[in-house]
Amino acid sequence: MLIAQITDLHLQHQPGPDGILPAEHLRQAVDSLRQLPTRPDLVVVTGDLTEHGAPDEYALLRAGLARLEMPYRLIPGNHDHTGQLRAAFPELAELGVDARFIQYVDDAWPVRLVALDTTVPGKGHGALCAARLQWLADRLAEAPAAPTVVLMHHPPFETGIHPMDAIGLLEGRDEFARIVAGHHNIERILCGHLHRTMMCQVGGVLACTCPSTVQQIQLNLVPSAPLAARFEPPGYQLHWVRPGRTVTHHAVVGHYDSVYYA
Ligand SMILES: [Fe+2]
Ligand SMILES: [Fe+2]
Repeated sequence: MLIAQITDLHLQHQPGPDGILPAEHLRQAVDSLRQLPTRPDLVVVTGDLTEHGAPDEYALLRAGLARLEMPYRLIPGNHDHTGQLRAAFPELAELGVDARFIQYVDDAWPVRLVALDTTVPGKGHGALCAARLQWLADRLAEAPAAPTVVLMHHPPFETGIHPMDAIGLLEGRDEFARIVAGHHNIERILCGHLHRTMMCQVGGVLACTCPSTVQQIQLNLVPSAPLAARFEPPGYQLHWVRPGRTVTHHAVVGHYDSVYYA
């Protein structure tokens, strides 16, 4: 199964510091996915869908994703609003199956999706409380042999980019690692929030963050460094999921000429 991942769209009506509207960045990312020689089976969008969680921003999201002409699944990030997200996508029943959180299982694919809500209303950081950890443990126990991908906005590891770690997954991280460690059928843990590509083993499973479709967080591991974003090329990831042999491709959005060698 081929799963494309885009993340951290931060849709709003104001242009970013580069003068480009986030909706235009999304349009370019969607064009890149549409132009792939191998069409993804599914697109997952791992949070920070909008900047302010406002209805008109979710309208931008609907319009932008409609151009995919591919199935997609959504999870919220810290910039999202649970109620507004549900209201904007009433046909996505999975967004409402849990009253407290937007978390769900999707069994409709050769790879089982387990979408976990790491958000804390009104806060930038993430948390996995006892209820969410128990939900995860129960869902994973249901299908111990099914190839599975976990979706979550805040990554379950420290990144070394200190201002982002300060708003990282601050609760439940060790318990999360213990839970996934017992499940060798988890092929990947797919995350957003960090606005650049990173990988880390968590409980023996590879967890990856994904570039933003808009701006990237500056790669600066100096502990005292302030948080800074840069307009490095936006990107996405393509996860070629095969049990035990999953490959993650990092890709950039934009037009680049091909060079052919005889
Ligand atoms: Fe973000
Ligand atoms: Fe975020």
